[in-house]
Amino acid sequence: MPELVALARAARQNAFAPYSNFQVGAALLSADGRVFTGCNVENATYGLTVCAERVALFKAISEGARQFTAVAVVADTEEPTPPCGACRQLLWEFGGNLEVILGNLDTEKARHRLKDLLPFPFDNRLLS
Ligand code: THU
Repeated sequence: MPELVALARAARQNAFAPYSNFQVGAALLSADGRVFTGCNVENATYGLTVCAERVALFKAISEGARQFTAVAVVADTEEPTPPCGACRQLLWEFGGNLEVILGNLDTEKARHRLKDLLPFPFDNRLLS
């Protein structure tokens, strides 16, 4: 597996977070081996802010990737930063039970499976 935490750390450098001052980076590994990175992009309206994970995911979808096996999320905090609820839902749509790797600027802090972070998801199986 490529060094996803290091790639998320690098992507975090591009975060646009002048309002929260909380910079986040993400790196998403697709099933075909490509890595898509993202950073959070805030907006003066606040509500239009997009998380690093969603930026990475939408970049990946727009490049044709549809399946993912792992995502790394990095912030400059002692406590790991897990994906927010909206990002969990969107990651589930394409990543299913992918591995969620959380880190900070120094080290990897934790690994989870998305199913443990989103235990009773709504998804397309329920749409029939
Ligand atoms: N944020 C992310 O980009 N990813 C997360 O997993 C948690 C939160 C961003 C959104 C906002 O720009 C800032 O962090 C503070 O919530």
